[in-house]
Amino acid sequence: MNTDLAGKSLIVTGGAQGIGAAIAKTVAERGAHVVIADLKEEQGQEVAKLIGGTFVRADVSQRADVEAVVARAVDAHGGLDGIVNNAGITRFVDFFEIEDEHWDRIHEVNVRSMFLFTRAGARHMREHGGGAIVNISSMAAKGYRHTSSAAYATTKGGVLGLTRSSAMQLARYNIRVNAICPGIVITPLNAQWLADNPGYIEEIPLGRPCRPEHIAAVAAFLLSDQASVITGQSWNVDGGLVID
Ligand SMILES: NC(=O)c1ccc[n+]([C@@H]2O[C@H](COP(=O)([O-])OP(=O)(O)OC[C@H]3O[C@@H](n4cnc5c(N)ncnc54)[C@H](O)[C@@H]3O)[C@@H](O)[C@H]2O)c1
Repeated sequence: MNTDLAGKSLIVTGGAQGIGAAIAKTVAERGAHVVIADLKEEQGQEVAKLIGGTFVRADVSQRADVEAVVARAVDAHGGLDGIVNNAGITRFVDFFEIEDEHWDRIHEVNVRSMFLFTRAGARHMREHGGGAIVNISSMAAKGYRHTSSAAYATTKGGVLGLTRSSAMQLARYNIRVNAICPGIVITPLNAQWLADNPGYIEEIPLGRPCRPEHIAAVAAFLLSDQASVITGQSWNVDGGLVID
């Protein structure tokens, strides 16, 4: 059994379902103490119970909620070693139909949240020897042509900018920041889209979509000490859809 995350205190946002739930399960299996932050109370509690972790109901776009989650992880587990900024939203919408309110909200949830968690978490980590942060971006940031919307792609590009700049600025505190760009991963976020567009799977060079566990395995690696000299990178996990 792989126990490379034994004793680490980690936060996983959006861990109530989909990719976040898979990440929470994988890192817990490898020995981490996990705090799940999500809006979905019932599902979040269920995952937390399954993995022996803690659930905190939080809107990740709100600073007070974010700081409460960080404080909870530090109190419950005596510190904070890592954060997976995974919570995200999208909407399938044509360029000309994007409303101002949607543009603002998707930036709050997908980018502002990651800045808030990075700042709050790094304040603790820099005083305690460092840590690791993994931001979930998307192939949408790298020009995937069927992406759900320009608003979503812009937020995921912002995640890469945040990843690179925070990696550079936090390296001196031994805080590593990396991003993962998932391809098509079957989750509640896109189940309907895939059902409506079965041809999109055929375009994947390896011929199959990702499972949430594929993303979780890379996140676990990036959080572990095996990745101790890796920072500022974006990892495509997408069956070959984007090769850069
Ligand atoms: N599914 C894919 O194919 C795919 C591809 C590329 C990137 N991603 C990214 O992976 C991440 C997870 O996606 P998923 O497919 O598992 O989505 P999902 O919709 O299945 O799960 C997202 C989770 O985030 C939570 N969440 C949303 N807004 C929140 C908020 N304001 N505060 C707290 N929690 C909130 C939801 O409640 C949900 O539990 C997202 O950042 C998404 O953009 C997904």
